Amino acid sequence: MSSLLLRPRLLTRGGRALSLLGGGRGASDSLSGVHPVARRSIIDLSYSAHFMDFAGSSIPSSMSKLVVTKLSPDFREAVCVQSVAVPTPGDAELLVRNRFVGINASDINYSAGRYDPSLKPPFDAGFEGIGEVVGLGLSASSRYTVGDNVAYFRSGAFAEYTVVPAKECVPVPAVKPEFLTLLVSGATAYIAMKRLGDLAEGETVLVTAAAGGTGQFAVQFAKQAGCHVIGTCSSNEKAGFLKSLGCNRPINYTTEDLAKTLRKEYPKGVNVVYESVGGSVLEVAVNTLANKGRLIVIGFISGYQTPSGIPQFRGGTLPVKLLQKSASMRGFFLPHFYSDYREALSSMMQMFATGKLVCEVDYGDQAEGGRFVGLESVFRAMDYMYSGKNLGKVVVEVAPPAVSNSKL
Ligand SMILES: NC(=O)c1ccc[n+]([C@@H]2O[C@H](COP(=O)([O-])OP(=O)(O)OC[C@H]3O[C@@H](n4cnc5c(N)ncnc54)[C@H](OP(=O)(O)O)[C@@H]3O)[C@@H](O)[C@H]2O)c1
Repeated sequence: MSSLLLRPRLLTRGGRALSLLGGGRGASDSLSGVHPVARRSIIDLSYSAHFMDFAGSSIPSSMSKLVVTKLSPDFREAVCVQSVAVPTPGDAELLVRNRFVGINASDINYSAGRYDPSLKPPFDAGFEGIGEVVGLGLSASSRYTVGDNVAYFRSGAFAEYTVVPAKECVPVPAVKPEFLTLLVSGATAYIAMKRLGDLAEGETVLVTAAAGGTGQFAVQFAKQAGCHVIGTCSSNEKAGFLKSLGCNRPINYTTEDLAKTLRKEYPKGVNVVYESVGGSVLEVAVNTLANKGRLIVIGFISGYQTPSGIPQFRGGTLPVKLLQKSASMRGFFLPHFYSDYREALSSMMQMFATGKLVCEVDYGDQAEGGRFVGLESVFRAMDYMYSGKNLGKVVVEVAPPAVSNSKL
């Protein structure tokens, strides 16, 4: 079959023609009783089963993906690489050839079955990807075409190809991993700060895991709101990075005692905490809240690798502490804030385009074994993040850019 016939725009036309002919034939024929002159036969292109990627190269019949085969917070134990058929997009779906996928601390909560207890293995891993559309269904072709660059936040991203509903995709100007940093990490900081932070100019904000995927954005949004920002991290290199983002007081907790430093330098306490670590760090954060302080629970990574997933927290006197300070603790979980999502993304993309937002990506160049390239390196990337080595958002390059062999 001619490759031209397989191009989606033609498929769209073909699709419309099919439906017009399908609706019209019986109707007009039976109404008029006139038999038209010989029609061209209708070729069922089976649009969703035939597609080519934008470079004109065939999509392989099989691909690799990461599948959770056993519930465990030990990612290596829970997940394995499988070779499967490349999936076919349905009518309203896109087939995305993933170029980069993002690593999230919660990938191991997902592999441990903590997000959705009804989900039983095997199920697909990975939350976010960016790449090119290489195939699509008919109704999806009203908004997208083969070769479009898209990003998405959806399970099943740790794969060479992922089928994504078109309505869940975000068009991006280029397949840059910087855009990938915005989907979960950036959006979490943007929406949590906006909806739950109630930041006012001149307030003091403490961000924990500040040099990581989401922390880097919390620091920047707090600075943009005119706040004084304190950020915790585990190395001088990260502290330098935080300074470069405008963080007023990076605290490397491996060389400075966090609780003592906060008590000494911020005797009135802090107004807002963006807290990702949990356990003893959460205790310090609660103790450092100012009157009417707001503590946003973003995560508790220090417990994720344990069987319960929850770090120890001595919270017996928590109600007393909150009451005495008229302070509050509020939880934030991104999927509960979908109504804010589009606005958050477009605002952040605008900021990035105009140089007002740093989206730091960690490709693993400093990791043992080097840059994270290929799906198998998701395992190394996860180890790297959990050893606290990452600076910025951890990203894995799934595939190099396609080399065109198109003769179109
Ligand atoms: N609620 C939501 O919707 C949502 C969405 C996205 C992320 N999150 C949460 O945000 C937090 C950060 O996630 P991320 O994906 O952006 O990761 P990340 O910050 O890029 O990486 C994790 C960082 O956490 C720090 N850390 C502190 N204690 C740790 C420990 N015991 N084990 C491992 N790391 C530790 C490390 O930085 P230092 O060594 O510099 O301390 C490490 O680099 C997590 O708690 C995650 O669950 C929540």
